[in-house]
Amino acid sequence: MRFQTAEPFRIKMIEHVKKTTFEQRAEWLKEAQYNVFRVKAENVYIDCLTDSGTSAMSKNQWAALMMGDESYASCDSFFRLEQSVHQTYGMPLVQPVHQGRAADYLLAKIYTQPGKIAIGNMHFDTFRGNAEVLGALVEDLVFDEGKDAASPASPFKGNMDIAKCEKLIAEKGIDQISVIILTVTCNNNGGQPVSMQNIKDVAALARNHNIPFVMDIARIAENAYFIKTREDGYYDVDIVDIVKEQLSYCETAVMSAKKDGLVNIGGLFLTRNQHIFAKANQLAIVHEGFITYGGLAGRDMDALAVGIKEACDFDYLQYRVGQVEYLGNQLKEKGIPIIEPPGGHGIYVDARRFFPHIPQHDFPAQRLVVALYQESGIRAVELGACAFGGKDPITGEATWPQLETMRIAISRRVYTNDHLDCIVNALDYIYQNRDSYKGLKLVFEGPIVSLRHFTAGFELL
Ligand code: F0G
Repeated sequence: MRFQTAEPFRIKMIEHVKKTTFEQRAEWLKEAQYNVFRVKAENVYIDCLTDSGTSAMSKNQWAALMMGDESYASCDSFFRLEQSVHQTYGMPLVQPVHQGRAADYLLAKIYTQPGKIAIGNMHFDTFRGNAEVLGALVEDLVFDEGKDAASPASPFKGNMDIAKCEKLIAEKGIDQISVIILTVTCNNNGGQPVSMQNIKDVAALARNHNIPFVMDIARIAENAYFIKTREDGYYDVDIVDIVKEQLSYCETAVMSAKKDGLVNIGGLFLTRNQHIFAKANQLAIVHEGFITYGGLAGRDMDALAVGIKEACDFDYLQYRVGQVEYLGNQLKEKGIPIIEPPGGHGIYVDARRFFPHIPQHDFPAQRLVVALYQESGIRAVELGACAFGGKDPITGEATWPQLETMRIAISRRVYTNDHLDCIVNALDYIYQNRDSYKGLKLVFEGPIVSLRHFTAGFELL
């Protein structure tokens, strides 16, 4: 186009959002023990808690939904989903599940063993939780710069550190490693992409040591966009071909379809290995539903069959990733410290630099989440001391993560740039007054430490 373009869609249906007062929000926060997961969504003005299951569906998805069957054995909806997966992802064997963490459960059950290590760039919490429950060990071996929220911008901060992998395998012995998992994009450190070269290198390393290689592809289309725009040799390659090439290197892939599937519920366990597929089918029958619906209604599978394809549209991805970048640039202009460069699905504010006077054991990132909701009704999520901290499984001592961030996740096709400007103004205000905020005290945590942030309770200090 000759002139600057806008969103590659127009808005057909709207949902009202409520404006609330500072005093109301103070009360709701207190009731929620300063955990915004417990604040009612209707009391949120702009919801950036997650990009998961919050996408706006297209008219083609709504139409597909009406075409969808109820659920049960071998319904037409499944075969439409299977065909879409074949065409877009190139993975032959398709087990639907109700959402990503169910696929994580199958993955943990099939590919991990008690006491053995699952290596990842950075494992997402729900795989980690499933692995922990089964007694497996986990290691995050992303490059050091990927664990440092203040490191300078570089194009592929989600990459696995191959040298660290080799070292760990040499030290522990191959028989102590159960699986290698790459999460693309890497959610826990900023929605940062993984390069095709790194995927190839990890696959080669896994093959050389005879270790299975699995990918978590919740945001594979966004990862493809970064490869196309940042990695040599991919500028002229179609997004779908980049998506397929990424997947061509792994044996199995798990997906929360609530992200790059552009649906509100759903997940996939995909594999090339018949034996693995048979195991996944058995586990799905016990825990999810029959092989051809895995806990989803036919209509959910139909919406997903369409969403998988729409998420790979270049114009959509350019708008999507561009919108996140727009937010990042506005915040940077105000001097607000963020992980750079902006990631695919959100902006991660570095709470260490934002609130340097709040020590990590007083939960600075969670304090920022609370301040943002209280000042403006905007809801974000903590990815720091509460989400990633915990207890050493052997010594029982408290552990504190390197990353201390607040994620502002951007839902797909939902908010306008005016909404994003509100976020910038609110954070600017808090940043100007940063010295007036004190930390939080953790007063409740659940028994699975790696999942404690969902139910934790706090008091203001
Ligand atoms: N893998 C990744 C990389 C994820 O980001 C998520 C969910 C899952 C697996 C689990 O999928 O929610 O469908 O069960 N991430 C959400 C988030 C919760 O807010 O980042 P699920």
